Amino acid sequence: MAAPVVWKTPGEVRAWVKSVQLLGQRIALVPTMGFLHEGHLSLMREGGKRAEVVAASIFVNPTQFGPQEDLSTYPRDAAGDLRRCGSAGVFGVYMPEPSTVYPGGYQTYVNVEEVSQGLDGDKRPGHFRGVATVVAKLLALFRPDVALFGEKDYQQLQVITRLNADLELGAEIIGMPTIRETDGLAMSSRNSYLSPDERRRALGLSRGLFAAQKAAAAGEADVAKLLALIRTELVGVQAREDYVELVDARKLTPLTVLEKGTPARALVAAFMGKTRLIDNVAIQLG
Ligand code: PAJ
Repeated sequence: MAAPVVWKTPGEVRAWVKSVQLLGQRIALVPTMGFLHEGHLSLMREGGKRAEVVAASIFVNPTQFGPQEDLSTYPRDAAGDLRRCGSAGVFGVYMPEPSTVYPGGYQTYVNVEEVSQGLDGDKRPGHFRGVATVVAKLLALFRPDVALFGEKDYQQLQVITRLNADLELGAEIIGMPTIRETDGLAMSSRNSYLSPDERRRALGLSRGLFAAQKAAAAGEADVAKLLALIRTELVGVQAREDYVELVDARKLTPLTVLEKGTPARALVAAFMGKTRLIDNVAIQLG
């Protein structure tokens, strides 16, 4: 596969978008923060099935990191990422500088009110304001026909779906399943922070979620019991719980009992040492 084109400025992207539109071709967009793994690449490959051309962005977005979070240490590998994008069929990658996206005097932010509350919205104040702002800017810049996001960041996917509808940005937002390591750990750029021992213990998150999923499928409707199954696994691997919740899959409001036919989602955030991990699964009462 050819090495992708690299765009550094919105002007370069706009010129390319116009040329693609003149040819009547569809654009798929995959926004990322880089340090790409199979999860990211699965979105890019799916983009190639849904549009003639695939663009990606690699931008570690400062506005979505809290003051105590890992902005300065977030893993980066620009050269490797460009190779991976090329092998996944990406035509071009937007890699702007922070000062290009947020120049001096910048003061416009996007706030998606309801689905940004609870879960990561409560634990990471301002996080979804930063995500919504940068994704709104990217969707406005690329005007993609489809934009692909992972269910790994389940609340983020709901925030972006809402923002795209509310601001009439016109993309089709595609949610893609979580890609996991063979042992079940959800792939994440942040897994690179884990020591070998933490990496083994990190399995407690997915193990707990799968236990709850299985119990629900077998008829357990008591949410407290399902949450206890997840917490047992977290305690067993000495993960520090940030939250464990079972919510309505669309509204993200907490549930106390499961009902047949109401799609639900179990979500976990937990610290493994200093590293904060998140994961989630669909829950369906059987
Ligand atoms: P990042 O964490 O790099 O993720 C980019 C995209 O890849 C997101 O849509 C995310 O949900 C998806 N993804 C991550 N891990 C995945 C996995 N294991 N399986 C499937 N998809 C996965 O999410 C962000 O960046 C940023 O918040 C962003 C949307 C780019 C805005 O800055």
